[in-house]
Amino acid sequence: MSEPNAHQPARAPSHAQERIFVALDTPDLAHAAKLARALRGAVGGVKVGKELFTAQGPDGVRAVSGGERLFLDLKFHDIPNTVAGAVRAAVHLRPFMLSLHASGGRAMMQAAAEAAREAAEDAEAPRPRLIAITLLTSLDEADLETLGQRGPVSEQVKRLAALARDSGLDGAVCSPREIEALRALCGPDFTLVVPGIRPAGAAPGDQKRVMSPAEALQAGADYLVIGRPITGQADPLAAARQIAEEISQASGGVS
Ligand code: C5P
Repeated sequence: MSEPNAHQPARAPSHAQERIFVALDTPDLAHAAKLARALRGAVGGVKVGKELFTAQGPDGVRAVSGGERLFLDLKFHDIPNTVAGAVRAAVHLRPFMLSLHASGGRAMMQAAAEAAREAAEDAEAPRPRLIAITLLTSLDEADLETLGQRGPVSEQVKRLAALARDSGLDGAVCSPREIEALRALCGPDFTLVVPGIRPAGAAPGDQKRVMSPAEALQAGADYLVIGRPITGQADPLAAARQIAEEISQASGGVS
């Protein structure tokens, strides 16, 4: 069992590896499919983003997700009617999670939530969890100023996360730095998905704010998005197992 203060998601995955979504950031379908096959059972699911989706389309997504949990990270942002249509289309890929920009506003998010519910019912598919993108971590205070948005960054992130929750979304992507604040603000059932994860001793690469897998879960993350520390290793399976082991050890056994 976990330490009492380790956050447990509403429907807590029973094994450490289920907290890990591996980011398949490549346009190359053969490479992505090979990684997904190698990692089956050693991670909780795969994340497909704009790079792989744009190169390989829905068939590419089906080829890599094959039975695994899918985080379809396409960050929808458009008028409500268009986003609702995109969500309906995405439900046929049976994603476990699906991302959209909170800055699309309340009506867009409400339309997305309704579309997800209806499409899942019609297709007798599971309803995907809708996950908000608040503020891209590539933006800083100066960018907010240029965009005419109210800062500071931490406040704008909280504002958008609260709006997402109030608009019927299920969670948000957040940087390690924001986990505790969003957990406190949005409550225990709000799904927090966290990239910028680096196991002990791993190179940060271009990530500016990193945390270890165990630290992020301890702070209140539900799911970790991990790319290069797994996919960039000579033996991705061994790397994924080591991360799951690190999580398991830190939480005193099975997470
Ligand atoms: O290779 P790495 O572990 O840095 O990959 C992290 C993944 O999470 C990538 O797919 C990246 O696009 C995504 N991501 C991120 N930072 C954000 C949002 C998403 O790194 N703020």
